[in-house]
Amino acid sequence: MALEIRSIKGTQDILPSDSWKWQFVERQFLDMAALYGFSEIRVPTFEDRGLFIRSVGDTTDVVQKEMYTFTDQGGRELALRPEGTAGVNRAVIESGLITGALPLKLSYVLSCFRAEKPQAGRYREFHQLGMEVFGSQSAAADAELISFVHGFFDHLGLQQIRLEINSIGCPHCRPDYHRALKDYFSARKEGLCPTCQERLERNPLRILDCKCPSCQEIAKDAPSGLDYLCEDCAAHFESLKKRLNALQIDYTVNPRIVRGLDYYTRTVFEFISGDIGAQSTICGGGRYDGLLKSLGGPDQPGIGFAMGLERLLMVLEAQKIELPAPAPCDLYIASMGEEASVIAMSLTADLRSEGFAAECDIVGRSVKAQMKYADKIGARFSMVLGDSELESGRASVRNMADGSTVEVELDGESLSRFLYDVELSRITDSLDVSGIPGFDKL
Ligand code: HAM
Repeated sequence: MALEIRSIKGTQDILPSDSWKWQFVERQFLDMAALYGFSEIRVPTFEDRGLFIRSVGDTTDVVQKEMYTFTDQGGRELALRPEGTAGVNRAVIESGLITGALPLKLSYVLSCFRAEKPQAGRYREFHQLGMEVFGSQSAAADAELISFVHGFFDHLGLQQIRLEINSIGCPHCRPDYHRALKDYFSARKEGLCPTCQERLERNPLRILDCKCPSCQEIAKDAPSGLDYLCEDCAAHFESLKKRLNALQIDYTVNPRIVRGLDYYTRTVFEFISGDIGAQSTICGGGRYDGLLKSLGGPDQPGIGFAMGLERLLMVLEAQKIELPAPAPCDLYIASMGEEASVIAMSLTADLRSEGFAAECDIVGRSVKAQMKYADKIGARFSMVLGDSELESGRASVRNMADGSTVEVELDGESLSRFLYDVELSRITDSLDVSGIPGFDKL
C-alpha cells in the first residue's frame, strides 16, 4: 500500500488518540469563558485579503511573508485567516453587534494559516482559543482578560507559565518612539535584513520582532517604548499593574514585547512556557483601540488574546497533566444469528437514548471476533445474545475487568437500570464524604 497524496507540510491530522484532548480543552475554554460572560462567535476561514492588510498591517511578517492568498473564480483577492481578531472585528461591525450592549465579550476557537517554517510548536495550520472585548477603555478589561488566561491555565493544572506585559503607547506618543527607533536603527542600517531596511522608513517598530538573528542582535539595545509613553498611556499601564498586583498575578514588564501585528495600542502581553522549546509563547494578546474605527466601524476600543491550542497541549503533555479520558463503551451487545442481531441493535438504541455508550456488531462477525473487538475498545460490560437468551428473555452481563456476571432481563429498561446502578456505585465509591457532617453513613 503506497499512499500517493500526503498531507501538506506544516499540517497535522488529529487522530482519535488525541482528538478527545482537543475536545476537552476547547470545552473547558468555552465553558469558563461563559462564566466570565463571553459568548462564542464563529467567523469564516477566508476573508478579503484587504481585511488583513488593513488590520494586521502590510509591514508585518504575517502579511508580508506568511499569508496564504489566492484569487477565486470571481477574481476576488482572498486570504486564509492568519489569525482571528481581524475577522471578529469585521463581523461585529457588519452584524451591528458593536452597536448593541457594551462591553461586547466574544470567545472563539478557530483554525489559522501561516506559511511559516514548520518546527515543533509552529505549524502552517494551527488553532487558536481566543477572546475579544469591545467597548472598554479601562485597564480593568485588560486585567480581566489576563486574569482569565491565568485562571484557565491554573484550572488545567499548568505550572510555571510566565506572564510578560508591556505598553506600546498610542497614536499620540507612538510617533516620538518611532522617531527614536528610526534614529537608532538608521545608524545600524547595514546590519539589518532587506525587509527591515524597508521597514525602517515605514514602521521601525516591526524591526523589534523580526526573526532574523542579525536584526534581533541589533534590536537588543534599541530604545524602550516605556520611556516614551504619554501621561495617559503611562497611567493606563500603572492601573493595569495595580490590578494585577491586587489579583496576585505575577508578571514581569518586558519592554521588548511589541507583538508581530500592527493593530496594537497600549497593553500587550504574552504567556510563556519554558517546557516546549523555541516556540514558547502559548498566548499573546493586547489592546487595539483604533482597529474598529480603521475598518469603518465606530470609535470603540478593543482588547483580546489568542492562545495556540497545539502549544497548550504540548505544555500539558510536557508537564504530564492527565486529562480526563472519554468514557469507554458501557455495554457491548454481541449476537449470534440474524434475529439476535436485530434485537441487539434495538437494545443498543434504547441504551443510547438513555445516555449510555452502547455498541453492537455491525460487521456480521463471529461471537469470538465480536468479543475480541469489545475487549479492544475497552468495553466495561458485554453480553452475548443467542437463541437461548432470546427464548428466556434474560442474559448475563459480564464485567470485562473481572469476569464476574449478573443476570439481567432483556429489555432496554432493565439494562439501563443495571448500568445506572453500576454508575451510581462507582460515583459513591469514589466520593470521600468522611469530613462532611451527616454523610458518615453513606
Ligand atoms: P499571535 O501572537 O500571532 O496573536 O498568535 C497567538 C498565539 O497563536 C501564539 O501565542 C501561539 O501560541 C499561536 N501561534 C501563532 N502562530 C503559530 C503557528 N505558526 N503555529 C502554532 N501556533 C501558533 C494573534 O494571533 C492575535 N490575533 C491575538 C490577539 C487576539 N490579540 C488581540 N486579540
